[in-house]
Amino acid sequence: MTTRTLITGGLVITAADETHADVLIEDGRIAALAAPGTQEWSASADRVLDATGKYVIPGGVDVHTHMELPFGGTFASDTFETGTKAAAWGGTTTIVDFAVQTKGQSLRAGLDAWYAKADGNCAIDYGFHMILSDVNDRTLKEMDLLVEEGLTSFKLFTAYPGVFFSDDGQILRAMQRASSNGGMIMMHAENGLAIDVLVEQALQRGETDPRYHGEVRKALLEAEATHRVIKLAQVAGAPVYVVHVSAQEAVAELARARDEGLPVFGETCPQYLFLSTDNLAEPDFEGAKYVCSTPLRPREHQAALWRGLRTNDLQVVSTDHCPFCFVGQKELGRGDFSKIPNGLPGVENRMDLLHQAVLDGHISRRRWIEIACATPARMFGLYGKKGTIAPGADADVVIYDPAAEQVMSAETHHMNVDYSAYEGKRVTGRVESVLSRGELVIDQREFVGRAGHGAYLARGTSQYLG
Ligand code: URP
Ligand code: ZN
Ligand code: ZN
Repeated sequence: MTTRTLITGGLVITAADETHADVLIEDGRIAALAAPGTQEWSASADRVLDATGKYVIPGGVDVHTHMELPFGGTFASDTFETGTKAAAWGGTTTIVDFAVQTKGQSLRAGLDAWYAKADGNCAIDYGFHMILSDVNDRTLKEMDLLVEEGLTSFKLFTAYPGVFFSDDGQILRAMQRASSNGGMIMMHAENGLAIDVLVEQALQRGETDPRYHGEVRKALLEAEATHRVIKLAQVAGAPVYVVHVSAQEAVAELARARDEGLPVFGETCPQYLFLSTDNLAEPDFEGAKYVCSTPLRPREHQAALWRGLRTNDLQVVSTDHCPFCFVGQKELGRGDFSKIPNGLPGVENRMDLLHQAVLDGHISRRRWIEIACATPARMFGLYGKKGTIAPGADADVVIYDPAAEQVMSAETHHMNVDYSAYEGKRVTGRVESVLSRGELVIDQREFVGRAGHGAYLARGTSQYLG
């Protein structure tokens, strides 16, 4: 039997348009849009949601999360269940998480482990990228198989020697493979070998506080690695997507490459747009809450990031959600900043922070939807199904109240972590209701979804590759 939901009276915002329209949902998909009140849809609808005075936007697409990531002897504190519920609370209806290949293991083994973690536990739809920690003949062949199966993106690291690090030859080989199989290489670009020298020297000088994490992971070493991976991609004839860009010098490298017409893409994250080294320098080890890599930068870098988002030198804002509790996890690095697990919580905060950026004049409303929903979906082969409100798309829809005020806090958030990176921050705008494939997950600020509703997404190749 067909189920029909009607959303009436809202301002429908996509990356392309802003129109007052009624939205008809049938069997989990957007069926039609029409000028308000012009169709006789309500009589046959099972459910009518009144969005008068509200925005009707596509569910957020967060293409960079790390649920349960093993890191530094511990695990990211959100499970797929807690993390996807929190995502829904924040208006995100799709995540793409990173399955991890550990050294010596096949890609398949790493991927199977991630399927097992997520299967039956997610409240919203999810896909995977694959972290390549061990590039060799066998794993290069496996990349082809994964692309055929719909896992079409692979992250490599110039950072974290001994853990995730790949050398330039390995990166080149993975990029060559991607250029032939249609995959997208995602790069964590920081010169990890040089950073490790600076870490050792800092610790020898007795510089152990969290703020030194920001000092040793220099902007120049992010820029150098960004430049290098762009050149390697150019040699391989492959596209490259640089994740979590934080330094203005790295944005300049991306802009230069894009001006040359290269298929080079960049992502930044809310923490780099709203937080800074001032947070890393908070006393009494509180700075540990803000330890992530790439690191937070001095406030001056934020202008370049906002500018990059406006000029499209940066195309995506994702969260790099990788939460570790302050008590018992971040504390592992007391007395040695290099032992603080890297990562920040944020999957619940992204849509609201970017809406605040609209109000602050950094980006337009449509650009908000473009960088948070449409482009991430296109970049990773989900667009059409995800990232927009158009006939045929999955009915992943958020009714957003642009006037509601909220104060971000660990007291009220739903992420499984004992602090908020934005504690006390006042923002205007809040999610009211969320649908995932036509089913209510959040109904007027009440969670009505369920773990297990979320389905695995086999993806196409990047829709930016022509
Ligand atoms: O600090 C971070 N970003 N932690 C997660 C792992 C990564 O490099 O994305
Ligand atoms: Zn990374
Ligand atoms: Zn990450």
